Amino acid sequence: MSKMGANKAISTLTFKKYKREGRKIVCLTAYDYSTAKILDKAGVDLILVGDSLAMVALGHQTTHAVTMDEMVHHTLAVTRGVQSAFVVADLPFMSYQVDVVQAITNAGRFIKESHAHAVKLEGATKLNLEVIERLVGMGIPVMGHLGFTPQAIHSLGGNRVQGRSAEEAYRLMEESQALEKAGVFSVVLEMVPATVATMITKQLMVPTIGIGAGNGCDGQILVTDDLLGKFTDFKPRFVRQYANLSELCQEAITHYAEDVRASTFPNADESFAFTVEEEAKLHDLIDENPPAISEVTC
Ligand code: KIV
Repeated sequence: MSKMGANKAISTLTFKKYKREGRKIVCLTAYDYSTAKILDKAGVDLILVGDSLAMVALGHQTTHAVTMDEMVHHTLAVTRGVQSAFVVADLPFMSYQVDVVQAITNAGRFIKESHAHAVKLEGATKLNLEVIERLVGMGIPVMGHLGFTPQAIHSLGGNRVQGRSAEEAYRLMEESQALEKAGVFSVVLEMVPATVATMITKQLMVPTIGIGAGNGCDGQILVTDDLLGKFTDFKPRFVRQYANLSELCQEAITHYAEDVRASTFPNADESFAFTVEEEAKLHDLIDENPPAISEVTC
């Protein structure tokens, strides 16, 4: 039996139901097994293996550098830690922009090799809409992503709020409807004025997931490392930090370093005992037949 069958797992139908019932959808990112396990146990509905992995986990300046192989590798680690949450894998830059065949092949890798439940892609280009239709047609759920789309950072002129003018907002509405028509099961709205995101949310049958898009969306997502105060290179205005793991970890590691330097770590409980009898026998063995000294250590 699959994990999905064994546990009360979340599916795209759950998100539709939540939208109908006005119940908010809780989403976060994860890039590794132990974080995914924590999120899943905490009852997070949707875990995104975002291409933010490039910046947060791999230290790149933008999301562009992360490869399909790296995303597949990290997504597999995440799905290993998940029992109930719905896992979405982010198609990285240039893994779906060439043509439909490339997009389908890469989306398929996430399902076959990483056991993800769905994929996400950015934007609503003609090619994207075709890709979405084809993927949905073959049973791969797709999440859309509009507003600030990090893979287009250079053409958008940096981390900028999108949809500030009536014309831009209207275009976002058209794009979100096109995504819905193509078959997405939800749409991420990133850095969009709250009023615009709320209007889009009301127009769509599928749920919207906001990040920097106000609280009128059907759900919210944050980068987990931002929420936990673990990623400290910059802090977007829309992030609410619920912990300061960076400080906490530094304190713990400083303490560990002090203990190692003072020889107070490890103590007897943290070490394995050797009986007095065995120690006496060992000394006898050494006296009778001293171990050969290797050339390397001479
Ligand atoms: O890559 C990512 O983490 C994302 C979310 C911030 C929506 O796309």
